Amino acid sequence: MGKHNLFNLDGKTAIVTGGGNGIGRSCCELLAEYGASVAVSDLKLADAEAVAQKINESGGKAIAAECNVTNDDHLVKLAERAAAELGGIHILVNNAGGGGGGRENPFKITVDDFAWVFKLNVFSAWRLSQLCVPHMKKDGYGSIINITSMSSINKSPNMSAYAASKAAMNHMTANLAMDFGPEVRVNAVGPGATKTAALASVLTPEIEAKMLEHTPIKRLGESSDIAGAVLYFAAPVSEWVSGQILFVNGGGIQTLD
Ligand SMILES: NC(=O)c1ccc[n+]([C@@H]2O[C@H](COP(=O)([O-])OP(=O)(O)OC[C@H]3O[C@@H](n4cnc5c(N)ncnc54)[C@H](O)[C@@H]3O)[C@@H](O)[C@H]2O)c1
Repeated sequence: MGKHNLFNLDGKTAIVTGGGNGIGRSCCELLAEYGASVAVSDLKLADAEAVAQKINESGGKAIAAECNVTNDDHLVKLAERAAAELGGIHILVNNAGGGGGGRENPFKITVDDFAWVFKLNVFSAWRLSQLCVPHMKKDGYGSIINITSMSSINKSPNMSAYAASKAAMNHMTANLAMDFGPEVRVNAVGPGATKTAALASVLTPEIEAKMLEHTPIKRLGESSDIAGAVLYFAAPVSEWVSGQILFVNGGGIQTLD
């Protein structure tokens, strides 16, 4: 591999879920900048369209797709459309996810709410991987990147569904790496506290100051910090890396309590 090709994604296609905002949006933009054609998918079609339009106007190639990752029909259509309109699927970023935020009081959360967090964070990533891997194997190049969380290894109150779902994602990542090789690699990126709308909904100045006490690189994360790690796993530079979790967290631990 020539050193200039280490990060080159020319001729590769990528699907990003939850690509309309935050971390997903940065992933779409960075993968496109390095040459990938991108299917920007999101629950909110207008947000996906805005990201795709920006990529297309900057000389890249992108399509926008409405996809609620908890809806199986949407996942099937997303994989079909990306393969047909972009010419294959090589990179999948399972980014859409949620729950947590200290809102999972075990005496209040219902069984359905708990199950929904697993459907959103774990089952969707497993199912979309299942749909995309045959396309990846056909072309002999595949990289799946699951967006997990520091919550998967931290302990926090009122986070049991989210934290357990992201821990499940970690172990699913390692196990699917066994199933999908050698053509397809499966890795995960675990963001620390990263400045997005999701974080803003639970962050206060006091919590931020406390987080920074335990963070050697004295700032919270930006979406672009996470996208950089996703690019590493997507690109040929990491061709012998599979089943791994990279925590991107300023070297520290940020919790909400
Ligand atoms: N921001 C953080 O501090 C942080 C930390 C750890 C992990 N994460 C993880 O990063 C991922 C992205 O988080 P973010 O902070 O960028 O969130 P965000 O709220 O900024 O953006 C999430 C995007 O996903 C879309 N989305 C929500 N539900 C969806 C669904 N069911 N189907 C498809 N799209 C959906 C939203 O419309 C939005 O565009 C999540 O998996 C989250 O758990 C974030």
